[in-house]
Amino acid sequence: MDLIHLNSELREAIDQARSKSLRIGFVPTMGALHDGHASLVKRALTETDFVVVSVFVNPLQFGEGEDFDKYPRALGVDANLLADLGAHVLYSPAPSEIYPTSEKVTKLSAGDLGEVFEGRSRPGHFDGMLTVVNRLFDLVTPDVVYFGAKDAQQVALVRKMLREQIGSGTRPPIKLVECETVRDSFGLALSSRNRFLSNAEIEIARTISAALQAGAVNPLASEAKAKARAILSPEAKLDYLELVDADSFEVLDSAEGKKARLIIACWVGQTRLIDNLLIDRTA
Ligand code: PAJ
Repeated sequence: MDLIHLNSELREAIDQARSKSLRIGFVPTMGALHDGHASLVKRALTETDFVVVSVFVNPLQFGEGEDFDKYPRALGVDANLLADLGAHVLYSPAPSEIYPTSEKVTKLSAGDLGEVFEGRSRPGHFDGMLTVVNRLFDLVTPDVVYFGAKDAQQVALVRKMLREQIGSGTRPPIKLVECETVRDSFGLALSSRNRFLSNAEIEIARTISAALQAGAVNPLASEAKAKARAILSPEAKLDYLELVDADSFEVLDSAEGKKARLIIACWVGQTRLIDNLLIDRTA
């Protein structure tokens, strides 16, 4: 595996892969990798020929007072894990490669879908996320990109961005693959932020997925939310819990006949966690 820090070296590696007609798979991450990230990389390795993984903690998607400074960074461990998996390139740029002062980097706006739920609680987060993802897509020029369903609103926004760019001919086709959420044996969605949780907090955090499971049984939003709330530990401070359309994130009264998602965000101690469960009642 090549550990690459510079855009010029990345371009060389990509050009070389392209000259061999290799299909390029791309997994963008912020590092502190866990089995959730690994599942994306493994999927990319089975479906494409040349897999690039980026590790970049993007300052633009963190708000004031958020955890940018204390976000876990573990490049050495990440590099070993990715080499063991068989990734071809670990691209770990300095901020000056992503946001050079000499070049105008397109800033994207996430629009209405970027203003609700995660967007409402984290103003500017999705603008920053889309801006870096767009920049990374420009640099890596992938054929297929891999995102996790755990960050469902992120996937919906990236899918929308790609649909618009490819539709208007401003970007060559890129296929987006949404990968299932990887969980621990108690259902807790893996997250780089879980390492901040104490043992007692892990127990509290495990009630999040249990709450979603219990709620998802009932198609009526009011019932589903009541059931979920009853299971969620009272020590988890709820930010939002909602039944929404799986793609548009429009709030639903019922999941009947719909592809819906029960979405949740809450604070466990100082750590903010999100999760969601797909409820497909179209059949
Ligand atoms: P990060 O939180 O590091 O996540 C990188 C990718 O891993 C995302 O697509 C995320 O949804 C996926 N992922 C995280 N936990 C997962 C789990 N438990 N199961 C499956 N997939 C999981 O998301 C970001 O970074 C950033 O916003 C990024 C897209 C890199 C832009 O900066």
